[in-house]
Amino acid sequence: MVERKDFLIKEINRLRKEKDAVIVAHTYQIGEIQDIADIVADSFALSKYCASQKAKVIVFCGVNFMAESAKILAPEKMVLLPERTAGCPMADMITAEGLIEMKKQHPNAVVVTYINSSAEVKAESDVCVTSSNALKVIRAMPEKEIIFAPDKNLGAYVASQCPEKNLILWDGYCPTHHKIKVSEVLEIKKLHPDALFLIHPECTPDVVKLADFVGSTKEIIEYAKQSIAKKFVIGTEMGVMHQLKNENQEKTFYLMASGLMCPNMKKTTLESVYNSLLNNVFEINVPKDILIRARKSLDRMLELSK
Ligand code: 13P
Ligand code: SF4
Repeated sequence: MVERKDFLIKEINRLRKEKDAVIVAHTYQIGEIQDIADIVADSFALSKYCASQKAKVIVFCGVNFMAESAKILAPEKMVLLPERTAGCPMADMITAEGLIEMKKQHPNAVVVTYINSSAEVKAESDVCVTSSNALKVIRAMPEKEIIFAPDKNLGAYVASQCPEKNLILWDGYCPTHHKIKVSEVLEIKKLHPDALFLIHPECTPDVVKLADFVGSTKEIIEYAKQSIAKKFVIGTEMGVMHQLKNENQEKTFYLMASGLMCPNMKKTTLESVYNSLLNNVFEINVPKDILIRARKSLDRMLELSK
């Protein structure tokens, strides 16, 4: 087992040099993947990293919409997703056809789409956002009437912070975050009364109301690092615990619930990264017409979030 792991790490390091590849990993990846990655970050930081990437190949350890976004932002690169079936159930809750229908019902609204969506849906959108820049981007937009898709929870959070905007919400959600219940939060708060409660805006509005800090995965990690508090309850996917614990040995972190896990994010292994580099699989491609239109919404996000 240890021998196989050593072999895989050695081969991955050899192949990434040979192929001029970078390995990017989302903060929800398993610890072994985070440890070999060139960058571990949230969706926004990973998008920026890929957009300015010099390497020829990007191995994206995350889920499909993230690798697709990397391809849209760096179309001349080979983008590989090590696990073909690593998808995002929330991104699958909306189709381009459905969004077109909603646009017809609200002809004066602009469309703001969470990056957790397919390239086809992005192509029908005016601007993309991630959890770390949604507030900034929406505040910077002059338009007031906004269709926000597909995450109704992130949308509700933005709406609560921007009362001057009228957000029309798509009925999508992240199954992992949506299942956190108020009763569970109250229980864990009672168990650890001196801990700060840090959560992701994909949680329901009732849960968000109980938080001491709401932010993207990277923002949660940064907040915990700079805080003088010593104990934290973490309301997002368990992958963030790896970095939180490694970088803050003197602090204590409690995961909101033991089952707080995104099964798709956990599919990628050292074996699949090795296979990906060795065989150039699974290559992500986006049809050119879709790519050009989707790119506009991502470029507008990068512009408005400066
Ligand atoms: P971040 O934007 O915080 O990386 O979140 C992405 C995601 O999929 C959360 O479930
Ligand atoms: Fe999608 Fe939720 Fe998994 Fe993020 S945690 S990739 S939103 S299912």
